[in-house]
Amino acid sequence: MIEKFHEAMADLGARPRRWLVTGCAGFIGSNLLETLLAAGQEVVGLDNFATGHRRNLDEVEKSVGAAAWARFRFIEGDIRGLDDCRAAADGVDHILHQAALGSVPRSLEDPITTDEVNIGGFLKMLVAARDAGVRSFVYAASSSTYGDHPGLPKVEDRIGRPLSPYAVTKYVDELYADVFARSYGTPCVGLRYFNVFGRRQDPDGAYAAVIPRWIAAMMRGDEVVINGDGETSRDFCYIENVVQANVLAALAGPDGLNQVYNVAYGGRTSLNQLFAHLADSLRGLGIAYDLAPRHGDFRAGDVRHSQADIGKARSLLGYAPQYDVVAGLRVAMPWYAEFLR
Ligand SMILES: NC(=O)c1ccc[n+]([C@@H]2O[C@H](COP(=O)([O-])OP(=O)(O)OC[C@H]3O[C@@H](n4cnc5c(N)ncnc54)[C@H](O)[C@@H]3O)[C@@H](O)[C@H]2O)c1
Repeated sequence: MIEKFHEAMADLGARPRRWLVTGCAGFIGSNLLETLLAAGQEVVGLDNFATGHRRNLDEVEKSVGAAAWARFRFIEGDIRGLDDCRAAADGVDHILHQAALGSVPRSLEDPITTDEVNIGGFLKMLVAARDAGVRSFVYAASSSTYGDHPGLPKVEDRIGRPLSPYAVTKYVDELYADVFARSYGTPCVGLRYFNVFGRRQDPDGAYAAVIPRWIAAMMRGDEVVINGDGETSRDFCYIENVVQANVLAALAGPDGLNQVYNVAYGGRTSLNQLFAHLADSLRGLGIAYDLAPRHGDFRAGDVRHSQADIGKARSLLGYAPQYDVVAGLRVAMPWYAEFLR
C-alpha cells in the first residue's frame, strides 16, 4: 500500500505544485515543509512564531540545500488576520493548515486565546482558501475530538463530549470545514492526529508533549514524572506517517475529499511501556538512565485510552504508516540526543 504514497511523490516530482504550509516553523509544519521542498515543490509558509522557532526553518534550509530553499517564501504573519491569510493563500494549489495553539492544559488555562487562534484563525484561513479556489484544504484535526466516548479503537463517526477547550476548538474546525465543503464546494480534508512525535518537536516549556519532555529529563538525568498510574495509553504516531497522510489527503480524488480521517499507527502503548522504550532507545545510544519514574496525579482533561482505527484512511487515501512507536523512536532519538546535548 505504501506504493500509493510513492506514486503521489513521483507525480509531484513530475508536476510540481504550489503549497501553503501554515505553522511551518512548528514541529509538524517544518517536517511537511522539508518533505515538500525536497520533492521539488514551491512552498509558501505562514507562521507568527507563537510556539514555533526560527531554528526549525534554519534546520530545514540546511537539510534541503540552497536550490530547494529558493522555492520557499516565508510570511511572518498571524492566521487571526484575514489579510495575512489571503496573502499566504494567493495562487496556491494545496493548503496544509497546521497553525494552531496545541495542548490541552494550555487551553484550560487560556481558553480565549486558544479559541481565537484555533477557531477564529481557522475560519479566516478557510475563507482565504475558499476565495483562492484551492484544489484542497487539508487541516490538522485532533484525536481529542473523541472526548469521553469509551469505544476503542476510535472510529471517525463515533465521538463523545469534548473534555477540554482545545478539543472543542478542533471539533468546531471539523464542523466549519464540513459546512464550507457543502455550502461553497471548498475541498476539505481533516486529519485527526494521534500523539505525533519526532524530530523538531519542542522539548521545552510548560506544554511540551510527553515524548520530548521525558527525553529531555532523561538526558539531564532528572526524574521522570508519569501522570497517574502509567496505564493511560496512547497511539503514538511517528511524524513520517503524518507527512504521508498529508500528501495523500492533499492529492485525494473526489472519494477521499470532504472527510475526516484518523492519522495514527493503530497501536496502543501505555505510558509505562513508553518510559521503558525511551530508556531502551537511550541505552542504544550509550546513554544509561536508571532512575525509576515517579507517579503523579492524573492530568485534567486527559482521556484514559486512545487508539485509532485507521481503516478509513487506508481504504480511501491509501495511507500505509511505516513506523510503529519503536521504529519511530529509533529514528527520532539520535536527533534528540544531538539537539539536547
Ligand atoms: N503534535 C501532536 O501530537 C498533535 C496532535 C493532534 C493535533 N495536532 C495539531 O497539529 C498542528 C501542528 O501541531 P504541532 O505539534 O506541530 O505544534 P507546534 O506548536 O510545533 O506548531 C504550531 C505552529 O503554529 C504556529 N502558530 C500558532 N498560532 C499561530 C497564529 N495565530 N498564526 C500563525 N501561526 C501560528 C506556531 O508558531 C507553530 O509554529 C496543530 O494544529 C495541532 O493542534 C498536533
